[in-house]
Amino acid sequence: MEETITKESKWKKEEEEEAKIQIYKYVFGFAEAAVIKCAIELKIANVIESHGRPTMTLSQLSTALNCSPPLLFRIMRFLTHRGIFREETTPENLIAYSQTPLSHMLINVAPLLLLENSPEIVASWHNLSAKLKNSYNNNENSDLVVPFEVAHGKDIWSYGARNPGFNRMFNEGLGCNARVITLPAILENCGDIFNGVESLVDVGGGNGTTLSVLVKAFPWMKGINFDLPNVVSTSEKYDGVEHVGGNMLDFVPKADAAFFMCSLTDEEYSLPPKSSITCSIGVVRGYAFRV
Ligand SMILES: C[S@@+](CC[C@H](N)C(=O)[O-])C[C@H]1O[C@@H](n2cnc3c(N)ncnc32)[C@H](O)[C@@H]1O
Repeated sequence: MEETITKESKWKKEEEEEAKIQIYKYVFGFAEAAVIKCAIELKIANVIESHGRPTMTLSQLSTALNCSPPLLFRIMRFLTHRGIFREETTPENLIAYSQTPLSHMLINVAPLLLLENSPEIVASWHNLSAKLKNSYNNNENSDLVVPFEVAHGKDIWSYGARNPGFNRMFNEGLGCNARVITLPAILENCGDIFNGVESLVDVGGGNGTTLSVLVKAFPWMKGINFDLPNVVSTSEKYDGVEHVGGNMLDFVPKADAAFFMCSLTDEEYSLPPKSSITCSIGVVRGYAFRV
């Protein structure tokens, strides 16, 4: 009996000691995202990638980035521990770095990482508790609480319309997500949902990246990128894609099919009221479908 008590108190003590270590993960949980943002802003991966040799010494990297070697070393130590860059020692006994699949991805996914780690988006996460407070019994008012609006006093689209820098970052971030992650998966696994579609309107299509990829994959298809006026007016032009600005609740340009990607939740999913479109293709929460 006494032995069991001793064992239990030993485990409890060990758990408490472990908790003291683990809690620091949460105290400094923000640091991981901050260091990755720092790496992207300094363009560390781009510089190593374009160096022309597989490895780059700390000294070469510091010179290229105009950064203090001891400071840069600390950032690189943090990143290499997480598999972002590989640390090696050269035959001359110098510290050197090379790319890993993860550091290579930093280059491709930079706009998305910068968006999700932007002060505006992080501020909405910091208001997550506002969404849950008083939500017991499915209180209707709590459905109306949107953390972004609590943080910024307006909805994300109005905020984007008044803040061109955020508008651009948002559209580039989502365009990057579409180009690098979502569309390759759609094209590889269910590209046939576009069979027979000669004209496609992307409703809430952002800056048109999605359609620019789709019209390349299906060259017979004409793309109409439909989004809010402030979004399409600042979007790049793409061959085979026409930008149209407007409010999807008022109208949707005519096409063989309407495409909704992450523009609606599955609860909201329906064709807009004044639409003449009878076919729609959606990608909602990782599922692609055609109705
Ligand atoms: C979550 S984003 C999705 C963007 C893009 N479809 C994607 O998956 O990357 C929603 C898009 O809908 C647009 N949007 C929001 N309200 C809109 C409205 N009333 N009419 C047209 N577009 C709207 C936004 O500007 C934004 O580009």
